[in-house]
Amino acid sequence: MDFKRNIMVTGGAGFIGSHVVRLFVNKYPDCRVVNLDKLTYAGNLANLADIERAPNYVFVKGDITDLDQMRQVMAEYEIDGIIHLAAESHVDRSIKDPMTFARTNVLGTLALLQAARERWESLPEGYEGKLFHHVSTDEVYGALEMDGGLFEETTKYNPHSPYSASKASSDHFVRAYHDTYGMPTLVTNCSNNYGPYQFPEKLIPLFINNIRQGKPLPVYGKGENVRDWLYVEDHARALDLIFHKGKAGDTYNIGGFNEWRNIDLIKVIIKTVDRLLGNPEGHSLGLITYVTDRAGHDLRYAIDSRKLKNELGWEPSLQFEEGIEKTVRWYLDNQPWLDRITSGDYQRYYEEMYRGR
Ligand code: NAD
Ligand code: TYD
Repeated sequence: MDFKRNIMVTGGAGFIGSHVVRLFVNKYPDCRVVNLDKLTYAGNLANLADIERAPNYVFVKGDITDLDQMRQVMAEYEIDGIIHLAAESHVDRSIKDPMTFARTNVLGTLALLQAARERWESLPEGYEGKLFHHVSTDEVYGALEMDGGLFEETTKYNPHSPYSASKASSDHFVRAYHDTYGMPTLVTNCSNNYGPYQFPEKLIPLFINNIRQGKPLPVYGKGENVRDWLYVEDHARALDLIFHKGKAGDTYNIGGFNEWRNIDLIKVIIKTVDRLLGNPEGHSLGLITYVTDRAGHDLRYAIDSRKLKNELGWEPSLQFEEGIEKTVRWYLDNQPWLDRITSGDYQRYYEEMYRGR
């Protein structure tokens, strides 16, 4: 079958990537969606069980740091668009193991850019009809004061963690390929995502799972840090819109205008889980355990996504209360998914991570 487009999503077996793959496979049956993923601890093909047999879906087990493999995949599948999500994504892991973050996020992005450049420059039409869409984070902008405004597309980069430093570096390489070689690239910087299929080392799924099991909820520092939360399907919709309508060379911030102090968010999660489990109100509040703060813990992230609204008409579709309710229900209804990845190796890793806190 001839496809209208061949779009490669990297990191499609991860949290956000799986939502992007599902959206594209279902919405664009005339486009082939190639999910390229190394299947690290964070990659899980069970996230895509519902679409794995779709005729326009292909999974390739691959490593973005392997330049030869990226060259081969670009040619074999005639890739004309890339939505690049593959990355190491957890700040706490980056503090323990920064080298892996530099290798995957910086060198991996560079290898992918290079493979795309070689492929597209070798074609008679060159870069026409091509796009390299790099998915990044608001964390590259650094930290805001409590009353310090919002991150705009023009905010100066000021990353603090090895994770955000590696993502910032990859963003610079993406822009360098645009400015130097004329490659059509764009960058999106999004705030914290939440929703189904998030690996339970991140705050929201970790806490839902711990409440369910009656385990302590490790709140870093005083729980006063602020994050701006966006439901993952709203992020996927924004990526779809920007991939199709965004301007090459541009940057788009994506956020929910939805700031929460960690401790307030945690109380909402506790309340929701207790209600859905039939526990009396306040039942799990005693699980809150204040632990040593994360090193270099950024105080506040908050995104100004007015450009995306004004230029492309995107807005978050879900109210936060609705999104949290859906999310908690999903994790409670999908306990086998959670149990499988919180057993064995991951469990041992997790225990090591938190030893001594
Ligand atoms: P995730 O950790 O859930 O998934 C990452 C995926 O990348 C996994 O499937 C993993 O197997 C794959 N991967 C890792 N190394 C690879 C390699 N060398 N080659 C190929 N695949 C590899 O991450 P996520 O939370 O879904 O985030 C996806 C992207 O979005 C990342 O680039 C992240 O920086 C960015 N982002 C995330 C958030 C968030 O709140 N989660 C917010 C803004 C931006
Ligand atoms: P996280 O989900 O790791 O995302 P990020 O660090 O990329 O924002 O953490 C969200 C917030 O929750 C962050 O301020 C750190 C805090 N946090 C805790 O207090 N306890 C935890 O166990 C985790 C994982 C995070």
